[in-house]
Amino acid sequence: MDLFSLEGKVIVITGASGLLGRQHAEAIALYGGIPVLLDLNQAVLDEQALYLRDTFGVNCKGYSVNITREEAIKNNCREIIKEFGKIDGLVNNAANNPKVEDSAEKNFSRLEYFSSQIWDDDLEVGLKGSFLCLKYYGYEISRNSAGGSIVNISSDLGLIAPDQRLYRVEGLKEEQQPVKPITYSVVKTGLIGMTRYVATYWAERNVRCNAICPGGVENNQNELFMSEVRKRIPMNRMALKNEYQGLLIFLLSQASSYINGAVIAADGGRTAW
Ligand SMILES: NC(=O)c1ccc[n+]([C@@H]2O[C@H](COP(=O)([O-])OP(=O)(O)OC[C@H]3O[C@@H](n4cnc5c(N)ncnc54)[C@H](O)[C@@H]3O)[C@@H](O)[C@H]2O)c1
Repeated sequence: MDLFSLEGKVIVITGASGLLGRQHAEAIALYGGIPVLLDLNQAVLDEQALYLRDTFGVNCKGYSVNITREEAIKNNCREIIKEFGKIDGLVNNAANNPKVEDSAEKNFSRLEYFSSQIWDDDLEVGLKGSFLCLKYYGYEISRNSAGGSIVNISSDLGLIAPDQRLYRVEGLKEEQQPVKPITYSVVKTGLIGMTRYVATYWAERNVRCNAICPGGVENNQNELFMSEVRKRIPMNRMALKNEYQGLLIFLLSQASSYINGAVIAADGGRTAW
């Protein structure tokens, strides 16, 4: 157990109130770490932090921080240091989830109709946000004598292209067919580059940086979609939402003390095919 212990480790998680962010935070708390939750809605964060403190008996606090705003991150980083004295880990997990209104004629997720505003917004959260978190929280980690661990959440779609046939809806004209947007591939591939950069940048200060490439999580998608996805996954199923917890704890803890710059697929074998 000690090998995987996060006892007393202060770990910042971005997008902490989302589907997977909640799982990351619970796993960190279960292993004795202090999850520092960053997301957009303070009331939701307060409730989540209360639940984690009560359930796992650990210290925990949530902060509403828009990770695209440098001043907000800078101030929050100061606040965290004041409150906890240090930062030992960072999980770059937040992602933009734009609500796109499609017209009757066109689906705006498609490359030919994709707006440069959504391009900017997606890259702003996924890439600039992660960069800013590295600049402030990551730098604090590099100031610890023992260093620490950074985990970037990429995707299986950081390794392979989306199979757009999965998203097709029967009966729609070509221009109305939804697709996985181009920004998803760009952000998730970019995070892999960021991982390798940081893994070498602070290596001598004992800061390790690795990327997880999760496959799709089963989350009430329609049956046709799920059966088509399953066919592309050797294990013949999508992931459960808690199935990335083990890998995350491994990468944040001493169990992975010599693992740095790794890009680890956790995708039921999808990218092996
Ligand atoms: N769910 C999956 O199937 C899956 C698969 C592979 C990879 N991933 C990746 O895992 C990560 C988490 O996915 P999820 O399914 O939990 O997504 P989610 O949409 O449920 O959660 C993302 C969270 O990020 C927050 N966020 C967005 N913009 C922000 C900003 N500017 N500042 C602070 N917080 C912000 C949102 O409020 C939200 O709570 C993402 O990077 C996603 O791409 C997810």
